[in-house]
Amino acid sequence: MEDINIKITDRDGVTHEVVAPTDMAMNLMEVVRSYELAEEGTIGICGGMAMCASCQCYILSDTELPDMSDDEEAMLSEAFNVKPNSRLGCQIQMTPELEGLEVVLAPEE
Ligand code: FES
Repeated sequence: MEDINIKITDRDGVTHEVVAPTDMAMNLMEVVRSYELAEEGTIGICGGMAMCASCQCYILSDTELPDMSDDEEAMLSEAFNVKPNSRLGCQIQMTPELEGLEVVLAPEE
């Protein structure tokens, strides 16, 4: 079992250093929820289907991420507060390559 260390800044601007497992098929949105870093009901609304953008986050580190799917790209093209470094947390699976990832949660829409 391999865990990775990631930094997540919540919507209040507080940065949390969290440890995420890479062998539980978790995505970033689920990690945020499991550590309760966003209020229940404000993240992961579509259940991780790339259909709500409630899990939008900004990537701060230069971590190499998997390419966006067409669904993720389409959702982000319609979402609010989108920046060039926006991604949907639910589309980012926890893998050992993401060690050191740093993200900021986008504001609630
Ligand atoms: S949880 Fe809905 S787009 Fe990620």
